Amino acid sequence: MKRTLITGAAGFLGSHLCDRFIKEGHHVIAMDNLITGDMRNIEHLMPHPNFEFYHHDVTKFVHVPGELHYILHFASPASPIDYLKIPIQTLKVGAMGTHNLLGLARAKGARFIIASTSEVYGDPLVHPQTEEYWGHVNPIGPRGCYDEAKRYQEAITMAYHRYHGLETRIVRIFNTYGPRMRLNDGRVLPAFIGQALRGEDLTIFGDGSQTRSFCYVSDLVEGIYRLLLSDYPYPVNIGNPSEITIKEFAEEIIKLTGTDQKVVYKDLPQDDPKQRQPDISKAQELLDWEPKVLRDEGLRITYDYFKNLPEERLYEDSEHREFEAFSKGV
Ligand SMILES: NC(=O)c1ccc[n+]([C@@H]2O[C@H](COP(=O)([O-])OP(=O)(O)OC[C@H]3O[C@@H](n4cnc5c(N)ncnc54)[C@H](O)[C@@H]3O)[C@@H](O)[C@H]2O)c1
Repeated sequence: MKRTLITGAAGFLGSHLCDRFIKEGHHVIAMDNLITGDMRNIEHLMPHPNFEFYHHDVTKFVHVPGELHYILHFASPASPIDYLKIPIQTLKVGAMGTHNLLGLARAKGARFIIASTSEVYGDPLVHPQTEEYWGHVNPIGPRGCYDEAKRYQEAITMAYHRYHGLETRIVRIFNTYGPRMRLNDGRVLPAFIGQALRGEDLTIFGDGSQTRSFCYVSDLVEGIYRLLLSDYPYPVNIGNPSEITIKEFAEEIIKLTGTDQKVVYKDLPQDDPKQRQPDISKAQELLDWEPKVLRDEGLRITYDYFKNLPEERLYEDSEHREFEAFSKGV
């Protein structure tokens, strides 16, 4: 049986990866310090004989007894609200966390994949973004802590691959959505759905002409699974190229939720990317992968998930439950 370590396992993507690897018959070792994650995302897996959970901060030394075949490093604050609030932890998990886990992969002879991001392209000057584009990133702006942590993460991963011959994979994830996102973490899709469900107006930052491309989570997980099993060590974009302006997207959400909310406009945050669309030719060619779930369908599943949550969860704030305790240790 393959033994697979997944970091960030109690988060949105990590929890869906745990489901997939359990389904594929792996023994899954899930690791998370719960700084932005939520045990409710994986509580259904806790009784499973092939699932174990370690409450651990991966910026500290990581010890896992026994064999390991795969390491999926997905631990990192991922939403703008999170990484603006905890910038040092964000840099540490991208830098020290990745270094620790690469060391573990080397010691165990495990294959290693990191969750990189379209943010490595910054506010891109090339559209759509291909993997060959080096990006347009402001290292000292407010988003620099996330973008540069991810760029460093790619660099150290390639160094371990080149210098130590470690088997590594890099997935550049574009905006992904689905059940188990946090409603109030500042990402546009859950923010709109949360506002609609609470009967609030939908907030657009800027004039709404900026674009995003949203990928449904099951498509992303399939792409990651295929990339991990491939022999390609360089970055691969995984995302849905169907691009939409934020203004049109707000209208879609209002239609979906059947509410009569209005849209209100606020100032655009600094360095907010104006355009986002993955070029997925590489994934199509190398992995025979492309997204299957249309936005209509993915939004409907996601909306149903949030609509069926207990009402108090619509009001859970974005405060980090363990933030105080965690930050004292920094
Ligand atoms: N969701 C997206 O659209 C998207 C896009 C691009 C990249 N990514 C990347 O995918 C990964 C997962 O993102 P997500 O959307 O699931 O975010 P998330 O916040 O839901 O999950 C991240 C998880 O990592 C955990 N974590 C953070 N720091 C940790 C540490 N030091 N030690 C152990 N655990 C730690 C958090 O508690 C949380 O459970 C991140 O690396 C993110 O950068 C996500």
